[in-house]
Amino acid sequence: MRKRYLMTPGPTPVPAEVLLSMAEPIIHHRTPEFSKILAQVVEDLKYVFETRGDVLLFASSGTGVMESSVVNCFSPGDKVVVSRNGKFGDRNYHLAKTYGLDVVDLQYEWTSVIEPDDIAAELEKDPHIKGVFVTQSETSSGVLNDVKAVGKIVRGYTEAVLIVDSITGIGAVECKTDEWGLDVVMTGSQKGLMLPPGLAAVSVSEKAWGHVEKARLPRFYFDWTKAKKSIAKETTPFTPPVSLIIGLGKALALIREEGLESVIGRHAILAEAVRAGVVALGLKLFAPPEGRGNAVTPVWAPEGVDGGRIPKIMSDKYGVTIAGGQDEYKGKIFRLGHLGYFDRFDIITTLSALEMTLNELGYPIELGMGVAAAEVIFEENPF
Ligand SMILES: Cc1ncc(COP(=O)(O)O)c(C=O)c1O
Repeated sequence: MRKRYLMTPGPTPVPAEVLLSMAEPIIHHRTPEFSKILAQVVEDLKYVFETRGDVLLFASSGTGVMESSVVNCFSPGDKVVVSRNGKFGDRNYHLAKTYGLDVVDLQYEWTSVIEPDDIAAELEKDPHIKGVFVTQSETSSGVLNDVKAVGKIVRGYTEAVLIVDSITGIGAVECKTDEWGLDVVMTGSQKGLMLPPGLAAVSVSEKAWGHVEKARLPRFYFDWTKAKKSIAKETTPFTPPVSLIIGLGKALALIREEGLESVIGRHAILAEAVRAGVVALGLKLFAPPEGRGNAVTPVWAPEGVDGGRIPKIMSDKYGVTIAGGQDEYKGKIFRLGHLGYFDRFDIITTLSALEMTLNELGYPIELGMGVAAAEVIFEENPF
């Protein structure tokens, strides 16, 4: 027997009560029973997104709502700024290019944060820029970009909307949609919302609705106007993923019960403990100190150790699934997830499996040092 532990930044573990709620016999989506659940889910999503604006749901992965932002907000040839410092920022770039937008490409190293001043400079040069894309929590690098600062800048330009990929941000780090002036914010179910993959949510501000009215890119399934009209009637334009929405209702109730601030506070402590643990083992963190998120901790594989072997041994031998590096960092880094349904002993398990793996690979560590460092953080920060 090998018990399995899912320690990746998506998909993430799903609480038993959420799983059980999704195992109930299926109900029809055009019923008062489902409408009531959907209405509550939308209200609770607004709580999590910290918005009084609209939140729309789509049966898709996160990339679906990323694409929906492009097709709903823009027309061919519109000029947009894409800031990118990782794989998911790259996705925004490719999406914008695919749809024929005129892209100002602000590209940074994966190990750096994006610079809000560069965005300000582009907007100053051309105040008719229609949109700015930022990835808040860059899952490929663990970097947390300062969307609050970008919000302050973009707010000053009436023609530009700020589009934020918070797919691994929502529920793990602060993301104050209305207060920070974030026009479009996205997340996916398999992340901080503690659900299986298959559902994505996007918030849309009044300013963004202004863009939607003028946008001429073709859209059908991902048409935000259709989704908004249906949600106003407590339904969906197309068959929704009924079980996932029921599960989401349960997951959001858990988040409300804990309180959003506490949920984010828990993530901050777990992330700090992971960082303390890996540093105590003599390993180097990938993300820079000025921008480390709470969802995932990427770590450089030690010199002389093939980074690809670390996730493999952890999974094959100990049943602990972590993520490897992506694109050019494949084999060079590994990523420890701590997003969503995570508590202290998940971190202890991950660090323990990491220590045993490093030991097996001949990397000189003293067993227990990473775990001990994490325990100190937990003792100092009870929750
Ligand atoms: C920051 C970020 N953006 C976008 C995506 C894409 O989401 P999906 O894989 O659900 O399409 C992910 C998924 O890992 C992500 O972490």
